[in-house]
Amino acid sequence: MGQIRVYGGRPLQGTVRISGAKNAVLPVMVASLLTEEPCYLQEVPRLLDVVTCCHLLRSLGTEISWQGREMVLSTPRLAGIEAPYEYVRQMRASFLVAGPLLARAGRAVVALPGGCAIGSRPVDQHLKGLAAMGANIEVAHGLVRAHCRRLRGASIYLDLPSVGATENLIMAASLADGVTVIENAACEPEVVDLANFLTAMGARVSGAGTRTVRIEGVRRLSGGRHTVIPDRIEAGTYLVAVAATGGRVRLENVIAEHLTAVTAKLQELGARISATGSTLVIEREPGGYPASNVRALPYPGFPTDLQPQMAALLTQAEGVSVITDNVFDSRFLYTEELRRMGANIRNEGRSAIIGGPTPLTGAQVRATDLRAGAALVIAGLVAEGETEIGQIHHLERGYEDLVGKLSSLGAVIGYTAPKSHFLGA
Ligand code: UD1
Repeated sequence: MGQIRVYGGRPLQGTVRISGAKNAVLPVMVASLLTEEPCYLQEVPRLLDVVTCCHLLRSLGTEISWQGREMVLSTPRLAGIEAPYEYVRQMRASFLVAGPLLARAGRAVVALPGGCAIGSRPVDQHLKGLAAMGANIEVAHGLVRAHCRRLRGASIYLDLPSVGATENLIMAASLADGVTVIENAACEPEVVDLANFLTAMGARVSGAGTRTVRIEGVRRLSGGRHTVIPDRIEAGTYLVAVAATGGRVRLENVIAEHLTAVTAKLQELGARISATGSTLVIEREPGGYPASNVRALPYPGFPTDLQPQMAALLTQAEGVSVITDNVFDSRFLYTEELRRMGANIRNEGRSAIIGGPTPLTGAQVRATDLRAGAALVIAGLVAEGETEIGQIHHLERGYEDLVGKLSSLGAVIGYTAPKSHFLGA
């Protein structure tokens, strides 16, 4: 199993290009199931989750070619209607095929995701919406079996603004008979990106990015071309890393307005950040910064996918900081690992309480999930000595060439055991 070694104590300097967004590319790839025609995607990041999504889609009949950042997907005929547990277990976004399969084939069999390292993650809102659109749904033996003649438009109120449920239902509604209105929809930029791609395919979607999304179903969708938006979580991770180590870094290929909650918080902590076009520059001198409270919320609030990285940063702040996650119920497994590096951090319900500043020392730790792994890399960059991070396949799920990019910024970081072979050299 792969490992990364980091030596701390160096400021980050230089330029880094942000990749296409993991959480945008996965639903967009899945949306290609809605048409027999080819779909052309640009800015596809080389990530394990994208590889997993390719395996899943190929098992359903999709032909895929992927060169550099370009991917072409086409599904002239569906070869299957099932997403087995093997895929859903590796990547929960696999559940997104339920809506498109039902819309195109009238049938879908998708394994139920179990719990995971960041808390319970039910799919009741996905199922409620599909049922409202006329699907018959049966859950047994760990599988969701759904069938319908043709989905029909419906009014759906989500109990909470789930990103995945919003995406699944927008895709299903695109080929349904009539109008679907989703209330309390997720507003994340990745939902808007999906809606833009569907619109390029001929779908009629309005209101994406607001709490109410309206979809007028059409009889068929064509292929489409799409450039995936930059990864705001990858960009945010580099911003937090620079805030932690000090230095000056220029981020290219970013949409600054997707990062407002993050840049505002880092400015509170003394970072200087300026945006010009698709470039963001962050600068921070070494020296103390005040404790701060962070509350992870649905977009446009502070992203839950950046709260572990913020915890690593706040171990160096002066005073007591509190991080509360209002999106996932137990996303704090990483605190155990940070404690092994000397952090004064404890969990209390949905919060982590951090006393700082505490000097961190390099240790052997393991990435318990993707963003926990990123938090440990940041902790390693500020720690004295060597940090060895195990289970790095989690990092490879969502960060393209993390080691290469950080090395180019002057970090002393490398693999001690090989990265996953399918991500290439
Ligand atoms: C997506 C992102 C993930 C991010 C999360 C929240 C992808 C591939 N993943 O995950 O990186 O952390 O949004 O921004 O885009 N919930 C229910 N019932 C449901 C669905 C969700 O109770 O049917 C709950 C979940 O347990 C969780 C909360 O809603 O507590 C948010 O989940 P959701 O927005 O659905 O996240 P994902 O789409 O799985």
